[in-house]
Amino acid sequence: MSFEIRKIGVIGAGQMGKGIAQVCALAGYDVAINDVSVTRISEAIADVAAQMHKSVERGHLEAQAVAAALPHITLAESLANFSDSDLVIEAATENEDVKRKILSDVALSVKPEAIIASNTSSISITRLASITGRPERFIGIHFMNPVPRMQLVELIRGIATDDGTFEAAKNFVAKLGKTVTVSEDFPAFIVNRMKLGANHPMGPLQLADFIGLDTCLSVMQVLHEGLADTKYRPCPLLVKYVEAGWLGKKTQRGFYDYRSGVPTPTR
Ligand SMILES: NC(=O)c1ccc[n+]([C@@H]2O[C@H](COP(=O)([O-])OP(=O)(O)OC[C@H]3O[C@@H](n4cnc5c(N)ncnc54)[C@H](O)[C@@H]3O)[C@@H](O)[C@H]2O)c1
Repeated sequence: MSFEIRKIGVIGAGQMGKGIAQVCALAGYDVAINDVSVTRISEAIADVAAQMHKSVERGHLEAQAVAAALPHITLAESLANFSDSDLVIEAATENEDVKRKILSDVALSVKPEAIIASNTSSISITRLASITGRPERFIGIHFMNPVPRMQLVELIRGIATDDGTFEAAKNFVAKLGKTVTVSEDFPAFIVNRMKLGANHPMGPLQLADFIGLDTCLSVMQVLHEGLADTKYRPCPLLVKYVEAGWLGKKTQRGFYDYRSGVPTPTR
């Protein structure tokens, strides 16, 4: 009998954490969300609700399903709230120091058999696993953006991830109604290498705006450092945009300016 996941914790209530919470709640899981402040978490929960109501208006979701899902989402003021979680998914800012701190803290709060996962786009799962003191119960669960709409979920096993953890993660993704692809633990895994044929409804720069230019820069840095290949050197313009706080759609400005409602190139 594989380990059954019922209660889920999500750390990081940004665009990915919100999407992950939404799909988990719709699949009937109890999901608690944590972020750096209660205000940030409350706003995120309100955003998830608004997003679900919008999906009802567009005919993508049933009103009944939304009414059933919303009570499953709760606020986790601190990591101590995850003491009864079966799976905790870290979806915080793509910065290794931030993730290391979160993962070492959360490992102390959850029960011994709980699975800890990271949604990182690029950081080594084996390296992150080593911080948790339970590398066999650690796995990469890499959702795509926007989570409710993207079908594929990449599972990345670290060197120590055990079969039980992998099977439980596979069952979890299946219960979300999504499709698993399995990747090697290699800088930026597979999906970030698929430029073509991924059915992208927009060009690569606008997609970068949707991902977040800070996240893109961090991924480029991981590739550059991890593979020591100059072809991954981040473009100076990308660095400049991030330094300017132009992080893409989430700050209304990136390669495109979204403030008027119609995306226009910023330069
Ligand atoms: N954006 C994408 O397209 C995409 C796709 C797949 C995976 N990812 C990965 O998902 C993760 C999150 O990306 P995002 O786009 O949601 O970023 P985001 O900037 O929208 O959100 C990150 C959230 O993490 C929170 N956070 C920072 N430090 C924290 C801490 N110590 N404790 C709790 N919360 C903290 C921030 O307050 C913020 O709400 C990253 O690892 C990223 O690489 C992103």
